Amino acid sequence: MIRCEQLSKRYGKNVALNQLNLQIGAGELHGFVGPNGAGKTTTMKILATLTRPTSGNAYVDGISVVENPQKARRLVGYMPDFFGVYDNLKVWEYLDMYAGCMEIGPRERRRKMDALLELTALADKREAYVDALSRGMKQRLCLARALLHDPKLLILDEPASGMDPRSRAQMREILSEVSAMEKTVLISSHILPELAQMCSHVTILERGQAKFSGSVKALEKQMHLDQALTIRFYQPPDEQMAQALEACTQKILGTKPVHEQQDVWYVPGAEHRDRDGELLAAMMALQAPVCDFHRERASLERVFLEVTQDENQSVI
Ligand SMILES: Nc1ncnc2c1ncn2[C@@H]1O[C@H](COP(=O)(O)OP(=O)(O)OP(=O)(O)O)[C@@H](O)[C@H]1O
Ligand SMILES: [Mg+2]
Repeated sequence: MIRCEQLSKRYGKNVALNQLNLQIGAGELHGFVGPNGAGKTTTMKILATLTRPTSGNAYVDGISVVENPQKARRLVGYMPDFFGVYDNLKVWEYLDMYAGCMEIGPRERRRKMDALLELTALADKREAYVDALSRGMKQRLCLARALLHDPKLLILDEPASGMDPRSRAQMREILSEVSAMEKTVLISSHILPELAQMCSHVTILERGQAKFSGSVKALEKQMHLDQALTIRFYQPPDEQMAQALEACTQKILGTKPVHEQQDVWYVPGAEHRDRDGELLAAMMALQAPVCDFHRERASLERVFLEVTQDENQSVI
């Protein structure tokens, strides 16, 4: 659905995007994460045809945003990170006005507006003035507006910023509904754990280049989230038992356990972690006094800091 090829954008000497290559499949709920200034907004604006790249190209559903921006624009719903709403307009008037701009006929307009107000939980605010809505409600109204022309691709630039936890949860719910409508969603945030929770795929952007792009599962694998296996015993195994346990650990996981303390063992490496269950079953069969058997997972926050670690060094 999205393809960026050697996409670059410079503002004077400042390089916002540096030959970015990116592919996002149809139907993905794709998170776009990176530190301030990484180029998230710039990429999104290029895809929404609001700014042109300095070089390279980007395609939405095969249509170039550089060569055919008018056609590409129809495929994209865009919610910017900062937006104003008009004073003296009611919620329904606001949507009606935009629907008019998009040349949606009156009957179709009514049906669409009802459905979108329902989707964004604003049905009871239909008659409210937009400037009197809370920030979270304005965000949802802007989302409704971005969906009016039924775009194939929805681009949301930090839709959850400034929202309280309840509003964030509501936004997540709305987005999973949008995603179920077979739309592709690209959503940016600084918060990797939050994105990883709701997205199927993520791209980590740093200084205008993708440091990682793929499924959340692949990210966890690639970033060595898998840690050593810890086995704890409620009483230290006797020598004979210890020998038997070491032998089966070696056989199943291909690694010898390390035990500085007699009742806590570590098995380094995670290459054969898919055989953990087998090892546990073997230990139980030997009636080993196991009371804990687990692998730690590094937090996604730490992964984010690791991937983007050069960032701090570049800030002088
Ligand atoms: N209109 C502009 N004029 C000059 N420089 C700009 C402009 N827009 C963005 N930049 C620069 O481009 C780089 C990328 O900015 P961009 O807004 O795309 O980052 P971002 O990843 O969205 O950051 P944030 O998380 O802070 O929103 C930054 O160095 C920024 O200063
Ligand atoms: Mg931004």
